[in-house]
Amino acid sequence: MAKIVVISGSPSVSSRLNGVLQTIQSQLLAEGLELSWIDVRNLPPEDLIYTNFKSPAIIEANERIAEAHAVVVATPIYKASYTGVIKTFLDLIPQKGLEGKVILPVAIGGTIAHLLALDYALKPVLAALGARIQLPGVYALDTQVQRNEDGTFELDEELGQRLTAATEEFVQEFRHRLQLNPIAAQS
Ligand SMILES: Cc1cc2nc3c(=O)[nH]c(=O)nc-3n(C[C@H](O)[C@H](O)[C@H](O)COP(=O)(O)O)c2cc1C
Repeated sequence: MAKIVVISGSPSVSSRLNGVLQTIQSQLLAEGLELSWIDVRNLPPEDLIYTNFKSPAIIEANERIAEAHAVVVATPIYKASYTGVIKTFLDLIPQKGLEGKVILPVAIGGTIAHLLALDYALKPVLAALGARIQLPGVYALDTQVQRNEDGTFELDEELGQRLTAATEEFVQEFRHRLQLNPIAAQS
């Protein structure tokens, strides 16, 4: 069974990024797949700020990443880049910790002007962690995600279609790689 991890880098508990990720999760569940979440905001802040590689919570999160075949890396856009929150965790992933994994980068921003932050900011740092199989990814506008009072989210149709297409490509890509390397599928 493929192991998939989502790393979510929003500092906000009710971030519209959650609406985007829940949509991806629903689609993966419909494919019979499961996601394990690493919400960086729930990791011990001191361990993140002091880059504490010995932190049990960080070690556990890194073990899940090491076992994963595919990783969704998701961040809001802050100051034309990924958030500081996600970077504190990326700094704690071992060198080459994303090697061999299929990566789906996801970002949400307030302006389309920062669409390329996926390409000039997020993807290079993931490449520095060994990620060579990075899909084009999805950039959502926050106006495309409506946050309801009950905590649920509604996505506009255009974003929903792009998420469906990107998630299908993600699933195809890691299934294809697992077929080529069945030993990895058993681990
Ligand atoms: C400190 C801060 C900086 C931000 N900088 C940008 C930015 O440079 N470009 C952009 O498109 N959106 C920017 N935004 C908007 C967020 O990306 C967007 O509203 C967020 O992804 C969704 O908000 P939510 O997490 O509150 O739902 C910024 C938001 C905050 C709080």
